[in-house]
Amino acid sequence: MDSLPIDTIICLVCWPLWLLPFCASSASRLLPDKPLCASTTIISDDGTFALGFFSPSISGTKHYYLGIWYENIPKDNVVWVANRAMPITDPSSATLALTNGPNLALSDTTGQLLWMTNISTTGNSSPEAIGGEATLDNNGNFILRSSQGIILWQSFDYPTDTLLPGMNLRITHKTHALQRLISWRNPQDPSPGNFSYGADPDEFLQRFIWDGLRIYRRSPVWNKYLVFGSYIESIKSTIYFTLRHIDDEVYISFGLPTVSSTVLVKMDYSGKIKILMQNSNMSKWTDLQSEPNQECNKYGYCGPFGYCDNTQPIVTCKCLDGFEPNNKQDWVAGRFSQGCRRMETLRCGQEVGFLNLSTMKVPDKFLYVKNRSFDGCIAECTNNCSCMAYAYANMGTKVINGDETRCLLWMGDLIDTEKLSGQGENLYIRVNRLRDKKWSVHVLKITLPVVSSLLIIICVCLLWICNCGGKRRNKKIWKNLMSGTSSTVAELHDGNLKYPFISFREIELATNNFSHSNMLGHGGFGNVYRGILGDDEEIAVKRLSKGSGQGVLEFRNEVILIAKLQHKNLVRLLGFCIHGDEKLLVYEYLANKSLDAFIFNATRKSMLGWPIRFEIIKGVARGLLYLHQDSRLKIIHRDLKASNILLNAEMSPKISDFGMARIFGGNQQQGNTNRVVGTYGYMSPEYALEGAFSVKSDVYSFGVLLLEVVSGSKISSMHLKANFPNIIAYAWSLWMDGSTNDFVDSSIVGSCSLSETLRCIHIGLLCVQNSPNARPLMSSIVSFLDNGDISLPHPKQPIYYAEKNYETDGAGQDTVSYANNMSITVLEGR
Ligand SMILES: *[C@@H]1O[C@H](CO)[C@@H](O)[C@H](O)[C@H]1NC(C)=O
Ligand SMILES: *[C@@H]1O[C@H](CO)[C@@H](O)[C@H](O)[C@H]1NC(C)=O
Ligand SMILES: *[C@@H]1O[C@H](CO)[C@@H](O)[C@H](O)[C@H]1NC(C)=O
Ligand SMILES: *[C@@H]1O[C@H](CO)[C@@H](O)[C@H](O)[C@H]1NC(C)=O
Ligand SMILES: *[C@@H]1O[C@H](CO)[C@@H](O)[C@H](O)[C@H]1NC(C)=O
Ligand SMILES: *[C@@H]1O[C@H](CO)[C@@H](O)[C@H](O)[C@H]1NC(C)=O
Repeated sequence: MDSLPIDTIICLVCWPLWLLPFCASSASRLLPDKPLCASTTIISDDGTFALGFFSPSISGTKHYYLGIWYENIPKDNVVWVANRAMPITDPSSATLALTNGPNLALSDTTGQLLWMTNISTTGNSSPEAIGGEATLDNNGNFILRSSQGIILWQSFDYPTDTLLPGMNLRITHKTHALQRLISWRNPQDPSPGNFSYGADPDEFLQRFIWDGLRIYRRSPVWNKYLVFGSYIESIKSTIYFTLRHIDDEVYISFGLPTVSSTVLVKMDYSGKIKILMQNSNMSKWTDLQSEPNQECNKYGYCGPFGYCDNTQPIVTCKCLDGFEPNNKQDWVAGRFSQGCRRMETLRCGQEVGFLNLSTMKVPDKFLYVKNRSFDGCIAECTNNCSCMAYAYANMGTKVINGDETRCLLWMGDLIDTEKLSGQGENLYIRVNRLRDKKWSVHVLKITLPVVSSLLIIICVCLLWICNCGGKRRNKKIWKNLMSGTSSTVAELHDGNLKYPFISFREIELATNNFSHSNMLGHGGFGNVYRGILGDDEEIAVKRLSKGSGQGVLEFRNEVILIAKLQHKNLVRLLGFCIHGDEKLLVYEYLANKSLDAFIFNATRKSMLGWPIRFEIIKGVARGLLYLHQDSRLKIIHRDLKASNILLNAEMSPKISDFGMARIFGGNQQQGNTNRVVGTYGYMSPEYALEGAFSVKSDVYSFGVLLLEVVSGSKISSMHLKANFPNIIAYAWSLWMDGSTNDFVDSSIVGSCSLSETLRCIHIGLLCVQNSPNARPLMSSIVSFLDNGDISLPHPKQPIYYAEKNYETDGAGQDTVSYANNMSITVLEGR
């Protein structure tokens, strides 16, 4: 979009000589007898803006336009275009003249009129019709004045895609049309594009971005006549937006209260409305704010009664309180358009209450009730059974018709709601109240003393009974659990273990009878379901497949183990259940599922920027350190991999799946097993080949995980460019070439600190060293990650064992056979 004022040579060569005296020299005004031609520009007094001919074309046929641009900004500097849809093909022939009328007219020498101001004056004889002049102001406004000094026309009244400070965009209308910013078609073509921005034609209180005729994005509803944007550190100021009421019409405009800095609002060709600012050295625009900047921020994306939660690291749709997804399967799969439904039907009459949701962008399709107090607004909503929600604001000044109140009611579906971080307003949504307040107060006064003393007595008795019964029951379960004691678990049975037993019935209720729509996934040992325990505790239930002899051992192992572990980077076991041959484990539910669902997914990987990934790596390292040495036991996980790292709503990692973990006695350093379990690719060579495992086999798996997180590819990914058997070989090769930057996931290169990723690759290579002794302990790894100044040893070439044949047995488990005929069961992660 660089403006290229046409070279003087064109003018001299192509211009008929006799026309030359008529061309104005570069100046700050256009006069009737001095037309503007392609070689000259009009410059504002202080030199900030220029008006003239430019071409945004980089390739192909060059098209020229009459426009206004920032004179001292080299790139993306055009703020206004006259002949958007009528480009000039031969610049030597174009002139902008001040005609009698007076009018501004852009034409080429063939006489074709490309653009003109249509000022109708009452006949040519009127004094305004003669003379006049057009000037370019220091704020970028090109103004045509009559010889008497009356403003006849100004470019600020005809915005294109840019709003400059001081410019008004008309958003209510009596006599004039509404104004919109209309995007360029593309950066090289200023003709009107698909996107436009302006006020909702039904309600001036909100603005839309349209894509053609469809609403694409809705800005938050005005709740103050003067709204401040977020504070901008670099200019130590905030940008304000304001509603201005001028002669029966309402406009929006924006500006900076204190500093003068180059800022503008632009309807970008990409469909975003952007606030752009020049950085100090006038070479690049900084994007201060742009919307929509998430899929979730697009109009109605979360469906009716859903809302887009911007306060989470991963912005996504949720149902409003008291609502659940209309179609759970679609919702889980990320298709939100069907929205949510009420869990309980709404009662009408006295039993109404309102839930207060703060920092919201309130929904669309509201009814604007004028001149109401806050209580009056609540009454409006309470008294009408179709009212779903209300929101109230005092605009701070009498913006329109002398009324400063803003009472909004919603009579139907709540659509396009968002939860914002920081700004926003309170939205009150209608819910059933449990009990009539007057009644309850009255009754409570009389009965409270009697009932409460009775209750205390009953409670004491119940507690006593429950406690005894509970102890007996727990003891029995533990006895069952411990029968067939193996040496590893026997020493753990210290009799003090208390772990909540959850009944099978409760779990059936919580998971909707293990319904398919509640299924989160399935792993080697069975299925995992999502459920709600009690009122609102979200849980994940692992239901071990029946009759798998394998499962019993692992089950016992897992319950005992996790019961003893408490760390924020380990998944929390809430309880367990044994019912006939059913064995179930109940965990806390983690909203963002597993790490592999992000880093190996082409569309979701970009959601995990480098800072989040680095925190995940550090969290996993701390969780593993706790397992290895900080807990009372020494535990080897034996199956660390991306699908076993679960993420909560804040993207904090939790190590899960202790089914294969082994506990070591105090000074036991290494174990041996004749049943090698784990996942191919994550297993250290000594474990895969000899069945020998130690903390260092977990370190190996951690190294593989680390390389996967940095590169965003699976250990044995086929997407690797060159012919490398796995990412360890690839990482080593790039390490040797000194080009580790190529290893970093291309979707995070922008957000990442190359020194941190380099360090992670280095640590990853140390972890996958062939000799267990060459691999660092988790305690060292945690300090390597936390402290960038510790120097790291140099890694040797890792030996990756690539000779493998895959066989698949019926149960969907891959079996890998090695040269020494040892068979390794590889379990698919959940
Ligand atoms: C002037 O009027 C013509 C014909 O009605 C119209 O095509 C053109 O867009 C108008 N120009 C402006 C700047 O409004
Ligand atoms: C603009 O809309 C047209 C017609 O709907 C469509 O073909 C075109 O791809 C759109 N352009 C952009 C940049 O979205
Ligand atoms: C000015 O811009 C150049 C190129 O964009 C950049 O390298 C330089 O650091 C900038 N200087 C300042 C002071 O911002
Ligand atoms: C709703 O919540 C917000 C923030 O928690 C609070 O400021 C406001 O007073 C609440 N509204 C009512 C009516 O209680
Ligand atoms: C607003 O309502 C009050 C009574 O509730 C009335 O006295 C006043 O005139 C109204 N104002 C306007 C501008 O309608
Ligand atoms: C409730 O509001 C709707 C929509 O404004 C209106 O049509 C209806 O008459 C109202 N009902 C009552 C009882 O006020």
